[in-house]
Amino acid sequence: MVLPSMRLDGKVAVVTGAGSGIGAAVAVAMAEAGADCVVTELPDRLGSLEPVCAQIRACGRRALPLPLALPGLDSIAALVGDGVREMGRIDILINNAGVNIPREALEVTESDWDRVLDVNLKGLFFMSQRVAREMIKSGGGRIVNIASQNGVVGYYRRAAYCASKAGVVNLTRVLALEWAQHQINVNAVGPTFILTPLTQSTFDDPTLRADLLRRIPLGRVGQPEDIVGAVVFLCSPAAALITGHTLLVDGGWTAI
Ligand SMILES: NC(=O)c1ccc[n+]([C@@H]2O[C@H](COP(=O)([O-])OP(=O)(O)OC[C@H]3O[C@@H](n4cnc5c(N)ncnc54)[C@H](O)[C@@H]3O)[C@@H](O)[C@H]2O)c1
Repeated sequence: MVLPSMRLDGKVAVVTGAGSGIGAAVAVAMAEAGADCVVTELPDRLGSLEPVCAQIRACGRRALPLPLALPGLDSIAALVGDGVREMGRIDILINNAGVNIPREALEVTESDWDRVLDVNLKGLFFMSQRVAREMIKSGGGRIVNIASQNGVVGYYRRAAYCASKAGVVNLTRVLALEWAQHQINVNAVGPTFILTPLTQSTFDDPTLRADLLRRIPLGRVGQPEDIVGAVVFLCSPAAALITGHTLLVDGGWTAI
């Protein structure tokens, strides 16, 4: 048998922002691939994890819903402490939680900028740092950052968002370099526009929707399910020698 496995049997995965959109689909896919899952949500959105946990358990895997409010370092420490205590260790971290405040660059306020950079970049970094310390103790792991195609190309009304995701793409390379010695692979997935609560208002605008479709050579909007294969692959034995890479799932947007 030459083909390596894409299974994650016996692994423990943490998926942040798993109550909706891409995070919910990724968490269920991790369970379908054989992983037990710690799924996180903002404290006031914990209820949104119930259907996700039900789907994980229907796969015969353990599901542990926990609160996380990025970029709070206390919140991160509590989550990782509780997760390791309940599940034994963490093998996989999917840094999915993210926000966007679409606004013309001339209108962006300091608080808009800080919010987007705090959650998308600072929160992702300190979450990775805290989990990497656990992975080092247990001999290694996989981290997958949900970046964006907007980390490698620009798009209108997304100054802070594009800056944060470009930061994620290059941070992925640095963490891959530093943590390779600990057998921690760090990669990113860069989705194109995917239909989720984050992008609903963009897709509701017929002019914007037409512009997006025109830029996606494969000619359709993405669904959360379009992202999960890339994420599971990067966590699996099949991707053992891949690190520091951003895998774009963009329907060809950046190929032009
Ligand atoms: N939808 C897209 O078109 C698209 C494209 C490229 C990348 N992404 C990225 O994919 C990820 C998921 O996005 P989505 O489209 O599923 O959006 P979503 O809004 O459906 O999900 C984001 C999740 O993050 C959680 N979250 C928000 N702020 C948080 C915080 N401070 N601390 C902890 N959790 C927080 C939310 O509660 C939510 O569950 C994000 O990082 C986003 O930037 C999305």
